[in-house]
Amino acid sequence: MNYTEEQLSQLRSEVEKRETTARFRHTLGVEREAAALGELLEPDSISELRAAAILHDLTKSFTDAEQIKLMRAMGLPHMKAEEEAPQILHGHTAAALIPREFPAFATPRIIHAVQVHTTGSENMSIFDKIIFLADYIEIGRHYPDCRAMREAFWNVPQDILCSSEHLDGVVRRVLENTIRFLKERQLPIDEETVRAYRDICRRSGIYPTETIS
Ligand SMILES: [Fe+2]
Ligand SMILES: [Fe+2]
Repeated sequence: MNYTEEQLSQLRSEVEKRETTARFRHTLGVEREAAALGELLEPDSISELRAAAILHDLTKSFTDAEQIKLMRAMGLPHMKAEEEAPQILHGHTAAALIPREFPAFATPRIIHAVQVHTTGSENMSIFDKIIFLADYIEIGRHYPDCRAMREAFWNVPQDILCSSEHLDGVVRRVLENTIRFLKERQLPIDEETVRAYRDICRRSGIYPTETIS
């Protein structure tokens, strides 16, 4: 699916109304990063990647109770995260809202990428990985781990930048960082994140880090 700049610009203004200034700045950062990654890895899908990035945090500002309420209202199945970490549900609730509120952007690729952007998933497509990574390394992220992954992705020769193995390597490290971060703080780790991590390790022929597996 291709979108015109006018469609994207309308989408941006709609989403801007629903997000705080800081969140919207992040959203635009993810859009820019997703487009830059798309140029290298998914050049025919740039406008679709931009749309997914604009929509990815649509429900992030909702409270835990609102996330759960929306899960029920949208008929989504109960998830363990509802008790453990309701904030990670925002990918699911945003994905569920897209067909209702932004039907022109309800492509299977956009919906899936938005749905899994917080946790990752098994069998992630390049499109999914671009949105997942762009969310972590966009320029507005200043955490040391985010900066390190931004460097790890971009500071390599051009031919490596275009390889899906390189993308996989950095996505794997992001998943590893996420699991380690949660583990160190004794926070619940979503099963989907562990599955995503194991899946990408298996596909890359790499053993999962001992402390995580
Ligand atoms: Fe998010
Ligand atoms: Fe985000």
